[in-house]
Order: sequence, then structure tokens, then C-alpha cells
Amino acid sequence: MIYNFDDIINRKNTNSRKWDNAQLFGSDDLINMWIADMDFPSPEPVVKAIKERAEYPIYGYSFPPDSLYEAIVERLYRNYGWKIKKEWIVFTAGVVNGLYSAVKAFTYPGDEVVVQPPVYYPFYNAIRDNGCQVLHNHLAFDGERYTMDLNKLEELFKPVTSFPVRVPRVKMLFLCSPHNPVGRVWSREELTALGRICVKNNCVLVSDEIHNELLVGDVKHTVTATISRELEQQTITFMSASKTFNLAGLATSFAVIPNDYWRKEFISSRAGHNSGNFFGFAALEAAFRYGDEYLHQLLSYLRANVRFFTDYIDNKIPGLKVIKPEGTYLAWVDMRNLGMSALELRDFIRCKARLALDDGYAFGPGGDGFQRFNLACPRIVLQQALERLEQAVEEL
Ligand SMILES: Cc1ncc(COP(=O)(O)O)c(C=O)c1O
Repeated sequence: MIYNFDDIINRKNTNSRKWDNAQLFGSDDLINMWIADMDFPSPEPVVKAIKERAEYPIYGYSFPPDSLYEAIVERLYRNYGWKIKKEWIVFTAGVVNGLYSAVKAFTYPGDEVVVQPPVYYPFYNAIRDNGCQVLHNHLAFDGERYTMDLNKLEELFKPVTSFPVRVPRVKMLFLCSPHNPVGRVWSREELTALGRICVKNNCVLVSDEIHNELLVGDVKHTVTATISRELEQQTITFMSASKTFNLAGLATSFAVIPNDYWRKEFISSRAGHNSGNFFGFAALEAAFRYGDEYLHQLLSYLRANVRFFTDYIDNKIPGLKVIKPEGTYLAWVDMRNLGMSALELRDFIRCKARLALDDGYAFGPGGDGFQRFNLACPRIVLQQALERLEQAVEEL
């Protein structure tokens, strides 16, 4: 089937968080390019699977079918050479839900959890809402590209005996791979070095790989846990079909936890039956089994959107700089040259450019002066948004 991603599908008045948000942004005439879902329909086999399940009129408690476990096992082997066992898979009602369970399972209040900002902001909530402390290992940025600062990371595990004294309580690290919002797809070498530090310090590595299939650069995604057997035992990997196939509203995702003891701890920390639902299971299985034709077309459309967006800004909006994503459909744009404070920039984007974006400061240190754009929309919408932005910058 040929998908036409140029089609504009009206999402207003559909209870869409992205489009029905006037109370958040103060206006209902903005072009919405914030929050990470796509303005494209899901793959046709997914829609069919949900309709079929809906036809059967009993919606009682359910559990994931064996065929879903098999679809996951097969896909991870086919795409990443990762041989997992069915028993390692634990379903969660969304990745963020799973992150909360991971912090609850493996930390005590007061423990430290490392994040690498600027980073997906619900990481902070999952840590703080469980009574833990956020420890920043800032990404290094040379104006073009972000990298992990592994020397600084090592330091975080070491006690400091001179004033101010520090006794580290680092229990866990949240890795965002590919990284939202800066769009890096971490290389095998980077992940190997990071993994070595976690293993050496007995730090639980939580690898959020929800954007794993959304590769828009000339790169390959490496599953962190495939680096070594040792690291596999030290890692909790979160994945989902929700970004790739636009299923976030179905709140179904899974963790892969090879360490038997950790898996039991994780399962007992989940709240009640909070582990997905049968529409989500049906959709996930259909996407993994029959979604590749869609994904192929989607990626070529997204890559063209990234090119269009980058070329437009490079050629027509001087002063702004796109950090070209390697993965995700999100573009991180450096607007520091506009010389505005974080709040001035927020108001400028909303009131003058009339766009709803994610403000950089929400992603933690290093985010001030940046804005995150969601490029998963029809190209004509992207063009209209860029024209608004261009005009607003011209009028400054
Ligand atoms: C890195 C990352 N993790 C998790 C999520 C959300 O996952 P879920 O909707 O399954 O909780 C997102 C959504 O943008 C994300 O970018």
C-alpha cells in the first residue's frame, strides 16, 4: 500500500493533546509542532487489527498473547541481532510508566539517578516523584554536535573528600537512545564506554530506546544491551511501537530485563494490572509483523522533511541553527543568536511566530535558547510553520 503523508488530517476537536491545547498555549490558531506524536495515520494493518479486536464485544481483563512475545523476539533478532528470551519481556502501560517502576524498584529515596541534559523532561519527574535526586552529566556541545561527557560521568561515582564533601549515592542512569531532543544516535563505541562505567560502578542502566526505529540520518541504532553479556545483565531496555507507528494513545510498551532477579523486582514494583491493554497488544503485534512497508515510506518522508526544514532555515532564517537529527523526528534548533531570555523566546514563538513548540528550557540545563520542533507532519504544514517563523524573525 502507498501511504500519502502529504494528506492533511484534521486533528482538532479529537481530544488530541497536541492540537486541542489552547489552554496550554493561550491560543487555538497556532501550528502545533510540540509533543512527540505524528500527524499521520497509523499503518493500515494496525488499524485492521484494532477493528477486528473491537468487533469482539467483550472488553474484559486480558494478557498479551504468545504470538506478541514471538513478534518482539523475532523483530529484535532481525533488526539488531539481539537474541532475547520471551521471559525477559515485561509489558508496561507506556515507557514513562515503566521508568517510574524502574526507579521505584531499584532505588531508595535520596539515591541519585544520572541524566544527560538537555533531555526528555519526564525523566526528571520519574526520578523526583520517587524521592530520588537528579544528577546531571551535561552533554558536551561544540555548536554542531552533542556527545556524552564520559570523563565527567566517571567523576560522579567518586567520593569527594575535600570541601564540599560528597558521598555518591548513584544507583541508576537514564540513557535516552536515540536522544530526545538532540537527535543523536549513539555509536557503538560511545555506548561501550558508557556501559563500562555503569558495570564498573554497579549502576543500573535504564536505556530508553523508544525512538530506536526512527533513523533519519545515515546511522545504525545499536541496542545498548547487545554490547556485552555483562552489560545485558546490567541494563533495562524500554521499547515500544508507539513512536514509530504512531500508537502513543494506546499506552502499551515493553521492557526487556535479562537479569532474573531485577526482572522480579521490576514486576513487583508495577502498579496493579498496569501493563498495557488488548488494543495496544493487537496494534503492537500488527505493527511489528506487518509494519515495515509503512516504516520504509515513513522514513523517506521524514528524511525529506528534515532536509526541507534544515535547508529552509539555513537559507532563509539567518541566526538560527538546526542541529540535524540522526534519529527521532524531532529537530533541536539553536536560537541563542536571537539574544532573548528563555521566557522572551517562549513568548516570541507563541505570540509572534504563532507556533506551539517545546521550549528548550523544559529539557533541563543546556536547553535555554533552544526550541524543539516535531517534523512529523505534512510538508505543507512544515512550510507554513517556517514561513511564520521567517516573518517573525524578519520583524524583530
Ligand atoms: C525518550 C522518550 N521516552 C518516552 C516517551 C513517552 O513514552 P510513552 O508515551 O510510552 O510513555 C517519549 C515521548 O516523547 C520519549 O521521547
